[in-house]
Amino acid sequence: MYLEDPNGGLVSVQTYLLDEEKRFPGATGRLTWILSAITLATKYISARCRRARLEDILGSLDSENVQGEVQQKLDVIANETLLRCLGSRAGLAIVASEENEEPIILRTSNDPERPYIALFDPLDGSSNIDVCGGVGTIFSILAHDRRAKPMEKAVLQPGIRQVAAGYVLYGPSTILVMTTGNGVQMFVLDPSIGSFLMVEKDLKIPKACKSYSINEAYVDSFPEGYQNYLAWAHKNGYSSRYAGAMVADVHRTLIRGGVFLYPPTQSAPKGKLRLMYEANPMAMLVEQAGGKAYSGSERTMELQPGDVHDRVSVVMGSPDEVDLVLKHLS
Ligand code: AHG
Ligand code: MN
Ligand code: MN
Repeated sequence: MYLEDPNGGLVSVQTYLLDEEKRFPGATGRLTWILSAITLATKYISARCRRARLEDILGSLDSENVQGEVQQKLDVIANETLLRCLGSRAGLAIVASEENEEPIILRTSNDPERPYIALFDPLDGSSNIDVCGGVGTIFSILAHDRRAKPMEKAVLQPGIRQVAAGYVLYGPSTILVMTTGNGVQMFVLDPSIGSFLMVEKDLKIPKACKSYSINEAYVDSFPEGYQNYLAWAHKNGYSSRYAGAMVADVHRTLIRGGVFLYPPTQSAPKGKLRLMYEANPMAMLVEQAGGKAYSGSERTMELQPGDVHDRVSVVMGSPDEVDLVLKHLS
């Protein structure tokens, strides 16, 4: 059931953001305008995902992305959609995507009217698309740093500088979960009216839950601490859930509790997930919901990125469960 405002009105994502703006007397509305480009793009991506088989856009292309991964047709469609919707919005100085090697500068001058940077993973878990599994879009918004030279370097900021973050999960429903630094809000797309409606305000993650989410097939190549944690969890009544799409796995972890892990492996010694457009936005959501997010012994959002496509290991979720993992790592 959707939530109502005190006057019995529906709360769409736009209503919510315009209300939030009122808390900042000098607000220009630019961030709201950028987030509305994301909701527009993700509604379009949601529709394409639902019709993917019928439109013959399942499967992979012959191309690889900058990280040497095979691109799915829908990776490219989702990326182009987000670039088109965001590219035309005033307020954005730079956009960066998993699917583009370099950040895209939207204007060369250091225009004060463009105070934000948007980063995104256009389609997360895209290999799930062929089997009708959950996939998603992840986004992170940073304040533009005009002092950075060359300008692309402005993107390289730690996650604690994010001004907004979120994801859209294309599952049985299309769900938007986002934060502007004032708690986590959840919206469900009502396809009959084309609007994201608020279903939960100030979402909180359960403090503990005996559930872990990890690709356990790689256990032999995890560092010893993770192996010890898993052996301990097996003896202590834990259950395991893994969808293979970070958006789906983190969403379940936020709602039900537990811990999501992607440790370093022999083939990905720094971890597989990308710091700037996977780990950081999810870490901001999890922390805003009362959880914890670490990369090894360090808080993920305090890591200084060296490159827009940097990879990190990830341990995030219920605070007590993350503590138990960290105890085994130390
Ligand atoms: P993407 O589809 O954007 O490349 O991301 C895939 C990621 C993430 O969604 C998921 O948690 C992880 O890859 C799964 O990796 P494994 O198949 O190695 O478990
Ligand atoms: Mn991804
Ligand atoms: Mn992706």
